[in-house]
Amino acid sequence: MNFFDIDLQYQKYKKQLDLNIFKTLKSTQFILGKEVRKFEKQIAKISQTKYAVGTSSGTDSLLIALLSIGIKQGDEVITSSFSWLSVVEVILLIGAKPIYVDININDFNINHLDIKKKINKKTKAIITTSLFGYPSELKKIRKLAKREKIKLIEDSAQSFGAKIDGKPLSKYADVTCYSFFPSKILGAFGDAGGVVTDDKSIYNKLIAIRNHGQKKYGISNKFIGLNARLDEIQASILNMKIKIYKNEIVKRNYVVNKFIKLLSNQGIIGYTEVEKNKSHVYGQFSLLVKKRKSFINYFKNKGIPTKIFYPQPLYRQYQQNLLFKKKHTEFCCAHIVSIPINIYSNKRFEKVYSCLKSLIKKDEKIFYKKKNLSN
Ligand SMILES: Cc1ncc(COP(=O)(O)O)c(C=O)c1O
Repeated sequence: MNFFDIDLQYQKYKKQLDLNIFKTLKSTQFILGKEVRKFEKQIAKISQTKYAVGTSSGTDSLLIALLSIGIKQGDEVITSSFSWLSVVEVILLIGAKPIYVDININDFNINHLDIKKKINKKTKAIITTSLFGYPSELKKIRKLAKREKIKLIEDSAQSFGAKIDGKPLSKYADVTCYSFFPSKILGAFGDAGGVVTDDKSIYNKLIAIRNHGQKKYGISNKFIGLNARLDEIQASILNMKIKIYKNEIVKRNYVVNKFIKLLSNQGIIGYTEVEKNKSHVYGQFSLLVKKRKSFINYFKNKGIPTKIFYPQPLYRQYQQNLLFKKKHTEFCCAHIVSIPINIYSNKRFEKVYSCLKSLIKKDEKIFYKKKNLSN
C-alpha cells in the first residue's frame, strides 16, 4: 500500500491527463508557453491576487520570493522551527539569518505571540508555514508585520485551498508560495511551484528573477536571477488537476473527520484543533502519540506505511543552533506521526481506519489522552 493515492488518482483521470501531456508534446512549445500562462491565470484567480508566477518548485518559490522583497546578507528572517528544510535552506543560501519561533502544540503552526519578541532593526521578513494544510494565525501576524513594516511571506506549500474567514491565505500575506510537488494538494508529475502577490513591483521582480533576471531576451542588467521556470508539461498536468482539487479537499476532510471521531470518542488528543473561521485542507493527518515506535510498527505489520513530518527541528539543520531550542518543536519531532489519507479507495481507507481502531482497543497507552499531553 502506498502512503499517497497518486497511483489511483492517475488511473481515474488518465485519459484527460494523457491528452493534456500529448497536446503539449505535439505543440513542441516546452518553455513558458500557453499552458503556463493559463495555469498562472487560474492560480491568481483562486488566490484572489492580481499576479501569479509559475515556478520550478516550492523551494524556488521561497527563494525568489525572498529575493524579490530584497532580502540580503545579514538580514534576519523570522520563521517557525518546525517545517520542511526548504524554509531555512533558502534563508541561509541568501546569507540571511533565520530566527526561529516555536509552534503551538495544538496546531503545529508558528506561535504568533512569540514573533513580536524576536523583531529588531535587522528583521526584514517573517515566513509562516501553514503546516499540514492548516492556516497559521495570519490575520494577527499580518497586523504585526504591517505595524513593524516587515514583509510577510506565507509558505502555503501544504495548504493550497485553505481559508481564513472564507478567504484564501494569500489575502493575508505580501507574497504566498506554493509547491505543486506530486503529493501536494495540487500536484504535478514532477517538481513545480508558484508564487502569488498583489504587489506589482514584487511581481516584476518575481518574473525577472525566475528567468535569469532578464528584462528582455539576453538582457539582465538589474536583478541576479536563476532558472526557476515552471515547465510547460507540468503546467498542462496542473491545468487538468486544478479541476479536481476542491472535490479532493472535501473528501480529505471526510476521511480525517472519521479518524478524529474515532480518536475523540476515546478522549484521545494530539491532532490539530480546527477553529471555526479556518478551513483545513489536510495535506496530512498528523497525530502526537506517546509511543511512536509501537504505533509505527503496529501499522507496518498490517502493511500500512506511516511518515514522520518532521524528525528534526530546523535549528538543528545545516547549522546547529541550539540557542534556539524550543520545547514544543522538540516534543513534536519526537512524537508526531502521519497516517495515509486515502480518498480514491474505500478499501484502503477501511484498512487504515480499522488498524487505528484496533490499536486504540489493544493499547490505549500509546495515545495522549486529555490533560496528559506534555505542554
Ligand atoms: C512546508 C513546505 N515548504 C516548502 C516545500 C518545498 O517544496 P518543493 O518540494 O516543491 O520544493 C515543501 C515541500 O515539501 C513544504 O512542505
